[in-house]
Amino acid sequence: MDILKTKAEMQTWSAAKKRQGKSIAFVPTMGYLHKGHVSLLEIGKPLSDELVLSIFVNPTQFGPNEDLDAYPSNIQNDLDLAEQAGVTAVFLPDKNEMYGPDYQTHVYLDHLPRYLCGRSRPIHFGGVATVVTKLFNIVMPDVAVFGKKDFQQLAVIRQMVKDLDFNIRIIGGEIIRETDGLAMSSRNAYLTPAQRASAVCLSRAINLLKQRVDQGVRSVPDLVREAESFILSFDHTRIDYIELCHPRTLEPVDTVQSETLLALAVQVGKSRLIDNALIGPT
Ligand code: PAJ
Repeated sequence: MDILKTKAEMQTWSAAKKRQGKSIAFVPTMGYLHKGHVSLLEIGKPLSDELVLSIFVNPTQFGPNEDLDAYPSNIQNDLDLAEQAGVTAVFLPDKNEMYGPDYQTHVYLDHLPRYLCGRSRPIHFGGVATVVTKLFNIVMPDVAVFGKKDFQQLAVIRQMVKDLDFNIRIIGGEIIRETDGLAMSSRNAYLTPAQRASAVCLSRAINLLKQRVDQGVRSVPDLVREAESFILSFDHTRIDYIELCHPRTLEPVDTVQSETLLALAVQVGKSRLIDNALIGPT
């Protein structure tokens, strides 16, 4: 497994593979890998000759009061997991390598970032779109794999790839969960045992609303009210949003008439946790 720390090294590596006729699958991450990340590597592995993982905690997607400085890291463990998953190259740049002092170009989307997480994280998706554009140009993959855990991020990437004509196939991987239903996340590491017990409220609220929709409840205000009181019955919880929306445009809906995205963000202690599922008739 090659470890490449500069953009030039990574581009030279990818260009050489391409000259040999090899295809490249790519999984971008911010490290502190867990089984959710590994599942994306497992999706990418059989799809291509080479499998590239990037680890970069991207400062431009964190707001001023967010957890950039506290973001967990364990590079040695990440490299071990990458090797086991059959990664052939890890791109591991530092902040100055990615953004020079005169950096001034950004990628913004008009609509998708206005909804869901974009409301409380206004600069987040611009930061994601910009760094993923840069990573795509550096790694030059044929296929890239993103998790459905960050549903809005995946929607933003798909839109950006379409709008900016990237010749890269985007694949969405299913959400990987702990046995009690909590979606795996690097940020789960911040949870105290008491908060960890409460963190299960997100996936349970999703199951509750799935059940209600199956029972015929269609009114979004009724569904949201029920999920709110359910989540607030757990200690240490503060709701950022609970929303039902169109799975492609992310526009809010009033009734569940067709397949609908249920997305929620809940602050549990210091961790802001997100989860989502598609619910309703398909
Ligand atoms: P990060 O949070 O490290 O996530 C990297 C990838 O892993 C994302 O595509 C995310 O959706 C996926 N992922 C995280 N938890 C998952 C889970 N439980 N099941 C399945 N997939 C999961 O997302 C980012 O990093 C960054 O925004 C990035 C795209 C790297 C740009 O900086």
